[in-house]
Amino acid sequence: MYTGIQHLHSGLAYLVLIALIIVIVLMLIGSLSGKEFTEKDRKIALIAFILSHVQLLVGLILYFLSPIGLSLLQGGGAMSDPIARLTALEHPLINIIAIAVITIGYSRAKKLSTSKAKFRSIYMMYAIGLILILSRIPWGNWLG
Ligand code: HEM
Repeated sequence: MYTGIQHLHSGLAYLVLIALIIVIVLMLIGSLSGKEFTEKDRKIALIAFILSHVQLLVGLILYFLSPIGLSLLQGGGAMSDPIARLTALEHPLINIIAIAVITIGYSRAKKLSTSKAKFRSIYMMYAIGLILILSRIPWGNWLG
């Protein structure tokens, strides 16, 4: 169970990062070219939104299963160890905030009236979310 969820979380991470980058670039192009925000644009933004929410769910499950998740906090001493603090606290916390920011960007775009404002809401908030996610990825575990 743990290994399966860990692999899923690890693989989904690629999709989430790629989807966020693609959406940011497309929305930026949309905004700069002054084109109209269409239903197709909303659906493209929705793909990255859904992927990040699935990753949030998988991450939450993993947090309770992983030996380097919640169990490290319960053992004590994790706060003084930067590597333990990353997966037990910083990565989960910052990613939850990042996904909340992405959610705001997507939901706000639906309410805004001009196309430019809709594109901007998505590319700005998705970019902030992406930077937050990248700032707390356990790179050593993932690609190391
Ligand atoms: C978009 C959001 C997220 C991304 C892109 C992401 C990405 C990653 C990556 C790349 C790893 C390393 C995987 C590996 O070692 O192969 C990882 C590990 C981990 N993530 Fe996430 N994550 C996200 C959200 C979350 C959330 C919200 C939680 C918890 C609430 C979480 C909990 C964990 C835990 C506990 C580990 C360590 C797992 C282990 O190796 O045992 N992640 N994450």
